Amino acid sequence: MKKAIYPGSFDPITNGHLDILSRAVKVFDEVIILVAVNPNKHFNFSPKERVEMIKEAVKDYPNVKVDYYDGLTVEYAKKHGATHLIRGLRAVSDFEYEFQLASANEYVDSTIDMVFFMARGDKSFISSSAIMELTNSGVDVSGLVPSSVIKRIKK
Ligand code: COA
Repeated sequence: MKKAIYPGSFDPITNGHLDILSRAVKVFDEVIILVAVNPNKHFNFSPKERVEMIKEAVKDYPNVKVDYYDGLTVEYAKKHGATHLIRGLRAVSDFEYEFQLASANEYVDSTIDMVFFMARGDKSFISSSAIMELTNSGVDVSGLVPSSVIKRIKK
């Protein structure tokens, strides 16, 4: 069975992330969405809130699980029998960051490989911080995020 981890901050999860997931589930038998810690970020939502929003957004996928881990992603992957990490690539600017992340992961454990899906054109401008910026300026973002995120934002 091919198992993969889709790690990220997901602060919050967006339709861009969900598009990557919808393609990853066609390649892997099981995908675990992992809310992981990027120490350089200040978060809008707690890990518990992020996990809850994701769980509701992916409830129709039988082969997707959601979890939180505050250690190294490759460590988590190894512990759970996953062979690959999934990431989305949007613009060229993502490449440098992803290349560094992949290299750091490889240094820790070269048996865990990374798989990248290119963001669709209409999703390539979406980012979690853009969602929060638009929301804080009163723009309706319901076309960009799942309804579980809209519910939480309204709260
Ligand atoms: N569609 C929409 N948005 C996307 C996207 C897609 N397909 N792919 C990425 N993004 C956006 C995110 O919304 C986020 O936007 P923001 O910066 O405005 O919030 C941004 O791109 C970064 O993506 P995200 O997936 O949240 O990554 P991250 O950089 O926060 O996550 C971790 C990096 C958490 C995966 C990484 O830090 C990690 O593995 N941490 C655990 C510790 C570890 O193992 N470190 C090893 C390396 S040293």
